[in-house]
Amino acid sequence: MATKTTDNKDNSTTGTDTSSASGASSSKKTASVDNATVDKNEMNNSPLHKFYVSALKDIYYAENAIIEALGKMQEAATTEELKEAFEDHQLQTQKHVIRLERVFKLINESPEEKECKAIKGIIEEGEEIIKSTEEGSMTRDAALIIAAQKVEHYEIATYGGLAQLAITMGYDKAADLLEKTLQEEEDTDYDLTEIAETYINFDAEQED
Ligand SMILES: [Fe+2]
Ligand SMILES: [Fe+2]
Repeated sequence: MATKTTDNKDNSTTGTDTSSASGASSSKKTASVDNATVDKNEMNNSPLHKFYVSALKDIYYAENAIIEALGKMQEAATTEELKEAFEDHQLQTQKHVIRLERVFKLINESPEEKECKAIKGIIEEGEEIIKSTEEGSMTRDAALIIAAQKVEHYEIATYGGLAQLAITMGYDKAADLLEKTLQEEEDTDYDLTEIAETYINFDAEQED
């Protein structure tokens, strides 16, 4: 799916900038400030803004659930390398929660969790894998990596979409924060692929 940035909208939608050029007629300046204020209020009541807040609550719930899930996956993993990868990403995920709280604040909303059925299902799948694979096996690690990547892909889809919408709606600072998290999710996905393909998948294939 193509993504596009609309940087040219930035100045007109933030509304709080004090960058108006001096020397313009004062009546013109007042009119533009009023329009910006109206635009912003309308935006906060718009269906898209409401959807946006609801989607933020969804991923806020998901991130908190992921912190807990990564703890269980870390405990269940066989190799030190995978345990470490889960631990590192758990610490990163704590930062994602804090970033989301900042995003809520930036758009004048309060952080709240809304149950995310999708992430619940993905996490449940991970728990099934722990139950159905042998402790200490490489098969378990190969399977856990796939489970973790399903989580990452859910997050990548969410943050990618929310960052783009933030740009469209002129929530530039929120977009920057969401893009930072998006990058970390993509890096984690990449690292997990590396771990799987370096040796875990091969070792798992040798098991009977
Ligand atoms: Fe995350
Ligand atoms: Fe993640």
